[in-house]
Amino acid sequence: MKPLTIHPADKLTGRLVLPGDKSISHRAVMIGAVSNGKTVAKDILDCDDCNYTIGAFREMGIEIKKEGAYTTIEGKGLRGLKKPKGVLSVGNSGTSMRLIPGILAGQDFSATLQGYESLSARPMKRITEPLSAMGIDIKSASGYPPLTIKGGKVRAINYRMPIPSAQVKSTILFAGLYAGGVTVVEEAFKSRDHTERMLGHFGAKINVNGLKVSVEGGKELEGRQLEVPGDISSASFFIAGAVLLKGSSLRIEKVGINPTRAGILKILAGMGARVKIANKKDLFEPVGDIEVESGKIRGISIDETVIPGIIDELPMIFVLASLSKGRTVIKGAEELKVKETDRIKSMKENLEAMGAKIRIEKSGIIIDGVAELKGADLKSYGDHRTCMAMTIAALAAKGPSRIDDVESVTKSFPGFFEVMEGLK
Ligand code: S3P
Repeated sequence: MKPLTIHPADKLTGRLVLPGDKSISHRAVMIGAVSNGKTVAKDILDCDDCNYTIGAFREMGIEIKKEGAYTTIEGKGLRGLKKPKGVLSVGNSGTSMRLIPGILAGQDFSATLQGYESLSARPMKRITEPLSAMGIDIKSASGYPPLTIKGGKVRAINYRMPIPSAQVKSTILFAGLYAGGVTVVEEAFKSRDHTERMLGHFGAKINVNGLKVSVEGGKELEGRQLEVPGDISSASFFIAGAVLLKGSSLRIEKVGINPTRAGILKILAGMGARVKIANKKDLFEPVGDIEVESGKIRGISIDETVIPGIIDELPMIFVLASLSKGRTVIKGAEELKVKETDRIKSMKENLEAMGAKIRIEKSGIIIDGVAELKGADLKSYGDHRTCMAMTIAALAAKGPSRIDDVESVTKSFPGFFEVMEGLK
């Protein structure tokens, strides 16, 4: 496909509801599949990654129907999955690759999860180590996909996670559902807690005590109804666009504002952006309407404790920092190197091509704001978030840009460009 030309935009205005949260959508399908009875989920995200999770559970005998905004999952109980006929393909979805093994741990068959080449470069030792410690037979290709899991007996463990990761925490909690006894996971800094919340909603015996989460094994889950909030990570692109483009005013309704996930809102407040939350509701996941207006922003110091809460928004924060007044310092963001691409490299190279000032030092990433960015030839590196963040940078630049591989956005947000056009 030819690169897409992006012309600078005047402003972003309007009122919109964004597609459902990717992390919550994956979990609704996974947890619904191993609950007893029907789960009806409204607004599950229709994107490549979530559709791979749906495909994998269909391969394991779970009936999943989509009708309009509603997805019905006919759960078969904790150990009710069927051995798939072939390898389970999860495309480019790291969340499927890392979370499904926790569920396979408790089934009475062996199955292999495989992804595209790009996913095969993503580290899996972070899950094979704790799952092996739980007595699970899990094999990888020297720490990388494919993964083969032979379900069986699961041992409860106490595990302190060496890296903050919601995916690692979640797969251990899923395996813990099958263990005899209580499994405890402890993290150094809080990562998104969607799994804990949803397991609680479906009747698991789960307990959260600060940075420790415990789950009691052996308790069956019950199918539920739920509504998936709009994805804050998708929202962050348009929020940033509205902050940067003079005269913008946006209202994004029903967005998930779970505090373990919506760190971007605190960062924006710290940068002096004009962002407000209205209409807050606390369902099993808190939601609200985000109102944003353009305005000047300043640099900010971001330390490692808040990184898990903004991990997917950091590409967008690189762009905001580049167009803010003063210096931004980001510490402890090394996990960005093992996302769909090395996002420190992809963002630095792209933004530097536009005239940004970014240095990578031992102490962290240092971004000195510039008065303006200029249009340039930009690369997605096959990464949806690099692509969307750079598209917003291009809207705010002087002169047109061209960006390659725009199909990468279908991983999490197939309608990204159409929504963007509608706001111009
Ligand atoms: C996710 C957790 C994060 C995030 C990813 C989705 C999840 O990854 O980057 O997009 O749904 O649990 P890590 O757990 O590796 O930090």
